[in-house]
Amino acid sequence: MQQRTFPNHTALSQHTADYIANLIRQKPDAVLCLASGDTPTETYRILASMVQSGDLDLSRCRFIGLDEWVGFGPTDVGSCGYLVYRDLFTPAQIRSEQITYFDAKATDLQAECARVDDAIADFGKLDLLLVGIGMNGHIALNEPGTPFSLRCHVVQLAQSTIDVGQKYFTKPTPLSQGITLGLQHLAEARDVILMASGPRKAAVVQQALTGPVTEQLPASIMQTIEQGKVWVSE
Ligand code: PGA
Repeated sequence: MQQRTFPNHTALSQHTADYIANLIRQKPDAVLCLASGDTPTETYRILASMVQSGDLDLSRCRFIGLDEWVGFGPTDVGSCGYLVYRDLFTPAQIRSEQITYFDAKATDLQAECARVDDAIADFGKLDLLLVGIGMNGHIALNEPGTPFSLRCHVVQLAQSTIDVGQKYFTKPTPLSQGITLGLQHLAEARDVILMASGPRKAAVVQQALTGPVTEQLPASIMQTIEQGKVWVSE
C-alpha cells in the first residue's frame, strides 16, 4: 500500500484526476468504479473539464456505481448517483449504456446485487476502484463488522452513517439501508485509491492505517491491499 499526503484538497483532487486521466489514456476502455460523496467531487469536476476541453476521452470507459441509499435513485437530490451524475456523468456526456448503477428502488434488492456482481464478473476486473472513508471507517457502505469477503450486498446503515449522510440532502431524510459493492471487490480490483480530506477524517485514517486489520474498521483492509493507494490532504 502506498500512502501520500497532499498540502490541500485541491492538490489531492488534481493529482487524483491526473492519475485517473493517465490510466484512461493507457486503457481507453477501462472499467471504473467511482465513489460518491463530497471528497471526490473536485476530482470529477476536473475530469469533466478535461473531457470538455478535448484533453480526455471517456467515451469507451465503463462505469460502475459504488453504492446507493436504498429507496433512492440518481434523480433524487442528495443520492449517491445524483452527485456522480452532477459532477461527472452529465458534464462529461457519459452515455447511459456505459453506466451500471444499482437500482436501489428495486423491490428485489438481492437481484440487484446479483446483477451488479454479474456485470463486474463479465468485465473481468475493475481497473480502478476509487473510494472515500466514512467517519466510522466505512468504505462504500461496508459498515463496521462487515466481512471482508462480501461482494454486493444490502446493509443496515450504522447510525453514524445516517447522521453524517444528512449533509447530502436539503432536508432531514430518513435513511436505513444501503446497497453496496463489497470489500472483496476492493481486494480484487487492479487499482484502488482511497481519498480522504480534512482534519475530521485524520483520526480514523490514522487508525485504519496503523491499527490492527479488523472487520470492525473496514478501511483497515487497505493495509492488505498491495495495489492500494491512500491519498490524504489536510
Ligand atoms: P464524504 O463521504 O466524501 O462525503 O466525506 C465519504 C464516505 O462516507 O465514504
